[in-house]
Amino acid sequence: MIIGITDGVTYVASDVPAILKYTKNVYYIGNHEMAKLVPGEATFYNLDGDVIQKDITEITFSAEAAEKGGYEHFMMKEILEQPDVVKATMNSVIKDDKIDLSSVGLSDEEIKNISNITIVACGSAWHVGMAAKYVFEDLAKIPVRVELGSEFRYRKPLLDKNGLVVVISQSGETADSLAALREAKDRGVKTLAIVNVVGSSIAREADSVFYTLAGPEIAVATTKAYSCQLVSTYLLALQFGLIRGEIEEVEYKNYIKELQTIPDKIQRIIDDKERIQWVASKFANVKDVFFVGRGIDYAIGLEGSLKMKEISYVHSEAYAAGELKHGTISLIEDGTLVIGILSQDDLYEKTVSNMVECKARGAYLMGLTTFGHYAIEDTADFIT
Ligand code: F6R
Repeated sequence: MIIGITDGVTYVASDVPAILKYTKNVYYIGNHEMAKLVPGEATFYNLDGDVIQKDITEITFSAEAAEKGGYEHFMMKEILEQPDVVKATMNSVIKDDKIDLSSVGLSDEEIKNISNITIVACGSAWHVGMAAKYVFEDLAKIPVRVELGSEFRYRKPLLDKNGLVVVISQSGETADSLAALREAKDRGVKTLAIVNVVGSSIAREADSVFYTLAGPEIAVATTKAYSCQLVSTYLLALQFGLIRGEIEEVEYKNYIKELQTIPDKIQRIIDDKERIQWVASKFANVKDVFFVGRGIDYAIGLEGSLKMKEISYVHSEAYAAGELKHGTISLIEDGTLVIGILSQDDLYEKTVSNMVECKARGAYLMGLTTFGHYAIEDTADFIT
């Protein structure tokens, strides 16, 4: 719940966009807190009736950012916003071609002393964690465990006092992720939140916060916040790698340059949307879709598959490509759509060979790869 204040008027709403037209000054009310509202003023109390002081938060995004702006639906608007918001998120920490985590509140000393990372999140944010595991282990050589919030909170996970618990959440209010954060804090483990909503519970309670600058995400299914979360974990992993002496300065600079090309690359994909819409219409009636990939491509497939289910109501699974043959391949039949994700050169041939196994069972193959990998045309029926 939030409480908005302006001259002579007080608003109560469940989220910021509802009252943005009227005020940008809001209070976040927490659990076990009460508020007495009079026009233009709010006073806060704990359950004992003692007054508690709260800071007002000024919302930085505009009312227009929370409106459809001529698009048919919010999700399309938010997909198209990705280049801008990913750029804004990167620019919030990249200063003079270096990553500066001072706004996050993580010192070099703390980064050096982290023994391991536990990422906790739900849904798409958990998929970001799955991708982040590969990146952190690769660049910073820190062991990473990825946990579902709904599982973490109901067991007794082993946590090391020198570990770091990273909670990823767009809303900052997902109950299971919040409970996991509290569990970690209760056990004296340092917490870092990657959050989109300023002033949300997770943002307020975490020891350090990396804000994604996706702006308001109104569509229920996440798109732009997911992309911003992904890029945030890359930035963190890169900085951890440098500070812990796992990557050289030159390599670090090259990675930053590469990262800075991402917004334009996303734009290039968006510019191809007519072609993507064409293939989507061709497969709109498909019964099953399988996403296959290895390593980070598997993690990306998990998110693709969730979107397929959630938005298209089409049954879908994501598989680590090498795992398909251990049983699930029996579900691949004539016309099943298999989407192979092929973004890594070293794993390319391996995944292609798993796609070929599916084709032998009648699957229609789509290859999702980086520009220039034209050889995939020999195997896949459609390339994007
Ligand atoms: C799927 C989706 C959800 C959220 C999940 C976590 O499209 O949006 O799976 O990712 O509910 O939400 P947050 O990130 O707000 O904690």
